[in-house]
Amino acid sequence: MNPAERIARLRAEIRHHEERYYVLADPEIADAEFDQLMHELERLEIDHPDLVTPDSPTQRVAGRPVEGFETVQHAAPMLSLDNAYNEEELRAFDERVRNGLAVDDIVYIAELKIDGLSIALTYEDGRLVRGATRGDGFQGEDVTANVRVIRAIPLVLAGAPSGRLEIRGEIFLSRVAFERVNREREEREEPVFANPRNAAAGTMRMLDAAEVARRRLRAFVYEVLLVSTRPDAVPASHGDALAALASWGLPVEPNAKRCVGIEELLGHCRDWAERRRTLDFDTDGLVIKVDDRGLRDRLGSTAKFPRWATAFKFPAEQATTLLKEIRVNVGRTGAATPYAVLEPVRLGGTTISMATLHNEQDIQRKDVRPGDWVLIEKGGDVIPKVVKPIVDRRPAGEFPKWTMPTVCPFCESALQKPEEEVVWRCENISCPARVRRSLEHFASRRAMNIEGLGESLADQLVTTGLVKDYADLYALRIETVAALTATTLREGKELVRKFGEKSATKLTEQIDRSRKADLSRLLYAVGIRHVGEGGAQALARGFGSMRALLDAPVEALETVPDVGPVVARAVRSFLDEPRNRELIEKLQRAGVNMTSAVVDVAGADRSLAGKTFVLTGTLASMSRDEAAEAIKGRGGKVAGSVSAKTSYLVVGTDAGSKLEKARSLSVPILTEDEFKALIMKDVGI
Ligand code: IVH
Repeated sequence: MNPAERIARLRAEIRHHEERYYVLADPEIADAEFDQLMHELERLEIDHPDLVTPDSPTQRVAGRPVEGFETVQHAAPMLSLDNAYNEEELRAFDERVRNGLAVDDIVYIAELKIDGLSIALTYEDGRLVRGATRGDGFQGEDVTANVRVIRAIPLVLAGAPSGRLEIRGEIFLSRVAFERVNREREEREEPVFANPRNAAAGTMRMLDAAEVARRRLRAFVYEVLLVSTRPDAVPASHGDALAALASWGLPVEPNAKRCVGIEELLGHCRDWAERRRTLDFDTDGLVIKVDDRGLRDRLGSTAKFPRWATAFKFPAEQATTLLKEIRVNVGRTGAATPYAVLEPVRLGGTTISMATLHNEQDIQRKDVRPGDWVLIEKGGDVIPKVVKPIVDRRPAGEFPKWTMPTVCPFCESALQKPEEEVVWRCENISCPARVRRSLEHFASRRAMNIEGLGESLADQLVTTGLVKDYADLYALRIETVAALTATTLREGKELVRKFGEKSATKLTEQIDRSRKADLSRLLYAVGIRHVGEGGAQALARGFGSMRALLDAPVEALETVPDVGPVVARAVRSFLDEPRNRELIEKLQRAGVNMTSAVVDVAGADRSLAGKTFVLTGTLASMSRDEAAEAIKGRGGKVAGSVSAKTSYLVVGTDAGSKLEKARSLSVPILTEDEFKALIMKDVGI
């Protein structure tokens, strides 16, 4: 067999196994055997680069991360669906359809409603050429690179008609993949996704397709649009069209069912309200569609919805359980929020022992009391909420109303609430709960980025009294940290283990490294109200140093682009608080950097506008990201590769081929010191 034939054979075989695995969830070979096929193909393609085609399975991830997504026009608007929340509303839908068509028993196809994000796939002559998000329904974002890494989606269709087809479907994460993504985010101290839909949408928005590939998104398709192909390219009934899509290798959810008339349809809906728990992905209802395309055309659409389809929503998953206690949590800003501690109860496939109660007013309004039986509900989010107390089950006699505690449960200082607000606050900045949370925030990835300082360690450091504020972190010694014990909960059992020398060394190295973080990170890390990452960067750029910021009047703060009056006042009041100033001095004494490389002291410094920089090698005094921020902060651009348009190449140690290229094109070369001279002003504190 010649290489071209072998390559063709391998590609067909790989696609077959991708389909068995990702579309049919019924693999025929082991993962290792699949990997072997891929390796053989990769090797052959390396030896015969002329035989590589864009639709080869080796080409799912290609190229570098993109800068952003382009806006694209949909072939026809991506409509949304009207909802039916109960049987009565579904009967009303059926009646509208029958009246509109003057037909008695309508044939419907009931599909599962996949809880993900909609996608439009364009195939031209059977090849995937584009994947786009829904956007506003008319225009979406071109996410082709991310779609190509979803292995359930074929790059080439088998036996599809020629011409252009637009196939619509849903991209989603299985429950297991969702939990894995959130677990990983927790470990990295990133905020978790509230539900699989948000997780899938967040993933599709990532600019690096290799990263998307790691999340293992799945997909199901459910509609096909004939953009420019034979009118009979797809069968006239929806049920047959789904079968055609599946026969071309597309992932079609296998539980779609043909129902004749409303009674059969309702029976099917009742069935699935329970059966949905057996699925390995989330579904919040069924999509009911008229089967006959001709009838669909006759019914048409409103501006928002097709008249030939509706979403039957399953009732929200509810359960009743005993409300053992109402506790109050205190966050890093001091906000005290009540939550319910419940007798553990099964709800929608998981065991629930806590639920949100929002705020004091909400509890008063619903009159929820500790000791009550309560109705809890799981909507689209991971954390359920308390809907109402079951008043009939409330024992007679003394059963007091719940009142908000007057003191903080962690430090016993009086809780405060301005008249016009709903949130009570603990104003004591040394409150252990606040310190613990602010420590976690201080160390988080986007703040000082101290890897390894998570919830449990923060807890340990605060309860042992080793750390009373985040500046104490910088005085920690390896031996002290090594002796700490960490308690983790694994499968219901508590596991206690010593932190150990190795982890302690790593942690102290991370803490040490964080001393060099840019002022913008520090300003975000110290937790000033209303100051997010963007605000912190704007302040760092506007003032360049903590010293310049410390006594800046509100008016000066407000002149910084992107800093409004609310942020300006919050910064001022934070810096006017003597305890905060002491804390900043303590950080400075510990050697924490108080200046910014994103300096832009004179307001909008555009001194590098129109200049394009390329960075190569390792810089000694700043990371590449910091250097890039410094350039962009002054209006310059950073490019990935050297071309005749490059204004400067900045070289660190171990510079690579970019240096030769720059020399050959006579692009000016800057050493690190020369670069710093170009960007730095007097930023000393
Ligand atoms: S058909 C014009 N079928 O639900 C009809 N949509 O709430 C187009 N969805 O935007 C949609 N599963 O993203 C259809 N089996 C299914 C679906 C489904 C999930 C999504 C879709 C749509 C949203 C409307």
